[in-house]
Parts: sequence; C-alpha cells; structure tokens
Amino acid sequence: MINNPWLHTTDLCRYYRRGSQEVRALDGVTLAVERGEFLGVVGSSGSGKSTLLNLFAGLDTPTSGSVEIQGVPLASMSRRQLAGYRAQKVGIVFQSFNLISHYSALQNVETALYFNNTAPKDRRRLASAVLEQMGLADRMMHRPSDLSGGEQQRVAVARALVKKPEVLFADEPTGNLDYDNSRQIASLLMSLNHSGLTILMVTHNLEMAQECAHRTIKMQYGAIIRDGSANLRGSEPS
Ligand SMILES: Nc1ncnc2c1ncn2[C@@H]1O[C@H](COP(=O)(O)OP(=O)(O)O)[C@@H](O)[C@H]1O
Ligand SMILES: [Mg+2]
Repeated sequence: MINNPWLHTTDLCRYYRRGSQEVRALDGVTLAVERGEFLGVVGSSGSGKSTLLNLFAGLDTPTSGSVEIQGVPLASMSRRQLAGYRAQKVGIVFQSFNLISHYSALQNVETALYFNNTAPKDRRRLASAVLEQMGLADRMMHRPSDLSGGEQQRVAVARALVKKPEVLFADEPTGNLDYDNSRQIASLLMSLNHSGLTILMVTHNLEMAQECAHRTIKMQYGAIIRDGSANLRGSEPS
C-alpha cells in the first residue's frame, strides 16, 4: 500500500457502445502510482492500455470510478483546473509522434508553452534548451519530414518535457522505431526517471518494460492481471 500516491484510481471502468454491443475497454482497474516511479504497462492489443493512459491524462472520462491526482479527483476539477493539469503537470508522448508537419522541431516544442503562462519571449529559449538536451541542437530548424523516426520521437519527448511536467505518459513510444532508436529512447526515459520524473509507459515490448520500469503491470480484457516487479513471463493465473 502506497501512502500519498501521485495518482490513485479505484475500480476504474470505461465502456464503449459499439452498435448493440458494449465494449468493456477498462473493467475495474485499481492502481496507485508513486511519485518518482517508472511504471510499465504491457498487454496485448485491445487490452485497454491506451484507454487507461487517456483517462489518467484527462483526455477521456470514465464510465465509473475516479482518477485522483494527489488526492484530487479529476472529475471534481473545473474545466480551467483540468486544462491546467494537462498543460502543466502532464507530458504525453505517442507512438505516432503527433508533430505538426509544417512546423520546425523548435516550433513544435514551443507549442507546448502556448497554454502554460510562459511569456512569449521565453518560449524559444526554453524550447532550444530542451532540444539541445535531447541531442538535437543541429536539427532545430528541420521539419519532421526531414528528421529520422528516432529524431522525431526525441522532438516529441522535448515537447512533452519543456513545460517541466511532474509525470510523463508514454503510449508505445518506441512502437514505430527500429532497435537502435528504441534503445536510445529507452535510455533517455530511464535517465529522465533517474532525475526524478515519474513515468508511465505503455509498451508491447516486455523486455523494454522490464529493463526500464520499477514495476510492470499486465493488462488483459480491461483488467490488471499482474502487478509487480516479478517476471511477467511466467504462466498466467488460472
Ligand atoms: N472510441 C472507441 N469506441 C469504441 N471502442 C473503443 C474505442 N476506443 C477503444 N475501444 C476499444 O476498447 C478496447 C481497448 O482499446 P485500447 O485501450 O486502445 O487498447 P490497447 O491500447 O491496449 O491496444 C478495444 O477493444 C478497442 O477496440
Ligand atoms: Mg494502444
């Protein structure tokens, strides 16, 4: 049991209606995440991993159950507070990078500062500093199409980090990357976690989860079927 977790959820459910069918994307998830933790989320396609991260990030609302951030339910926040949560406390990285194609790397990173009270004159300086930290000093003026997949994902990580979030949510951050670039992103995430960033990472790659994460949960049919630092490769509970 964790005292004062950063994130806490009890019996979280998200059902979708598809025609006459009910899809239980999440079906009773109870989870606590501690500040400073690196949590891996694994499970086959359709098991509810993205649904879970989207609820945590306040991008979607649950059918029942609640998500509490530092003791405050997201559902109790005003629109303004929720926008503040997303703009300041949370950074998100997706599998598909989601960069704006006609913006340079620098402009893409600056966009994260439009909504968090950063003075316009400071945006460029902060964005370049994070891009430099990501090893992209000589790529700042390039558009996404002129960057490799690994570089694009590092721009996306820079965009997530420039607002100095408390938590990074990463949904299959290496899903579109080859082995070498996946390794680079994995070590980048580990070093960010060592410097204090709380990370929740969804991945298909069990080895990567076990290498990076302190704790890995495994999802199936919208529920957590394993939770722990133990090896997840063993037989499933019957
Ligand atoms: N907007 C939606 N409408 C209907 N069903 C959805 C929607 N989003 C996700 N689902 C369904 O919910 C389940 C979990 O999806 P998802 O969280 O994306 O899984 P994962 O990320 O583990 O692959 C899947 O069966 C998926 O088809
Ligand atoms: Mg997904």
